[in-house]
Amino acid sequence: MSFPKNFLWGGATAANQCEGAWNVDGKGPSCADVMTAGSAQKERINTRTVQEGVYYPSHNAIDHYHHYKEDIALFAEMGYKCYRMSINWSRIYPTGLEQTPNEAGLAHYDHVFDECLKYGIEPVVTLSHYETPLGLVDAFGGWKDRRCIDAFVRYCTTVMERYQGKVKYWMTFNEINCMSLNGWNAGGVIENDEATLMQAAYHQFVASAKVVKKGHEIDPENKIGMMYGGLFSYAATCNPDDVMANVTNMNSALFYCDVMCRGYYPAYKLKELERKGITLETEPEDAQILLEGKVDYLAYSYYMSLVAGAKTTGMDLATGNLYTGYTNPYLKTTDWGWQIDPVGLRISLNLLYDRYQLPLFIVENGLGAVDKKEKDGTINDDYRIDYMRDHITEMKKAVELDGVDLMGYTPWGCIDLVSAGTGEMKKRYGFIYVDVDDEGRGTFARSKKKSFDWYKKVIASNGEDLD
Ligand code: BG6
Repeated sequence: MSFPKNFLWGGATAANQCEGAWNVDGKGPSCADVMTAGSAQKERINTRTVQEGVYYPSHNAIDHYHHYKEDIALFAEMGYKCYRMSINWSRIYPTGLEQTPNEAGLAHYDHVFDECLKYGIEPVVTLSHYETPLGLVDAFGGWKDRRCIDAFVRYCTTVMERYQGKVKYWMTFNEINCMSLNGWNAGGVIENDEATLMQAAYHQFVASAKVVKKGHEIDPENKIGMMYGGLFSYAATCNPDDVMANVTNMNSALFYCDVMCRGYYPAYKLKELERKGITLETEPEDAQILLEGKVDYLAYSYYMSLVAGAKTTGMDLATGNLYTGYTNPYLKTTDWGWQIDPVGLRISLNLLYDRYQLPLFIVENGLGAVDKKEKDGTINDDYRIDYMRDHITEMKKAVELDGVDLMGYTPWGCIDLVSAGTGEMKKRYGFIYVDVDDEGRGTFARSKKKSFDWYKKVIASNGEDLD
């Protein structure tokens, strides 16, 4: 048996991409609620405020807010051991600035967690998944301002106290390294300069560390992790210049893990900031907070691998919603240009386990593809099954042959939802099809794809039966 008995098989979603009900029961708008729909060719536009007559995919999404019972029942039918989801911060504190929470928002997640627990499904909660309340942007300009720390700690304390005994797995910020790439998604930061983004990242590190500490005080059973947006690249050639450039490329993202797993900034990052003339504004107590708030586990998303070299300028050549360099001639790509690399998953597991010696958790992986509904209503997504089989096979080798301590696997968008990168619905990841199109039209009816029964079998056999 390769996977441990208590391996957390499940699926993952984010509130802003599936809940809809964007202004229902007292919810305030978040950064996601002002992003228009786009496509692989057309960037999403940030309108900054909600504008009349503009279509925003997050506003209805797949209406998971009203369908959660049906959706969780389907997850249970697949045999999920856990469900990774996010709490929509602005349901709890509509602007982020209130001193008392919105009871209707809190009650909603009570129902969701109760529903999960009814089936023995362990909730795994992301506290902030691209969902900074817009009120914090209006008041402070988002996470570039230190005052966001208190707002976040207040929110996290509220939900950790409220759901004590119901939720024990938490993650602070989804893909925290996204701050280097897209400050708006990561924390409502509109500026694009490195100094501002690095300051915002610093605030999130301190906030996360405070929440880890607080979460352990609230319940020593709590396991609180970080979430890394899996950036993994190979050197373009064995030319030492390419190899060194790849080290630099990897460090540009891995430093986020270094800070959160080790509790301090790595030397290479301090030197880099110094060279660039970036001086972080800090408070004297921060260093101790970072040390005391190291995470319990490292969760990450893995979709693809990249290639970096001395000539990489970033944002060029290969596509994908992470920054990148060269294309890899050995790999195929998805229809959205993401390079498919199952062996890279095993490599990433080895790299991170060796570097941090912390339990790892794959909390996102999957294939975004256009699914075709046949006349008889079936959806034969063999391409998705193939993608997942290959990735699970490599994940298994990492556990069985390399001894990596892996907690679980939650494929992304286990039910079709809005794409974060493009705002499309047609970029589907789910085992469950949802009848909604790119303009938000449809019956919202759920149906099972072929991969549904396949994944059910995978879970039932604890990853042994992948056929
Ligand atoms: C990750 C995010 O970057 O990738 C998710 O955490 C996102 O929110 C997922 O949906 C897949 O990306 P996309 O652009 O295909 O939705």
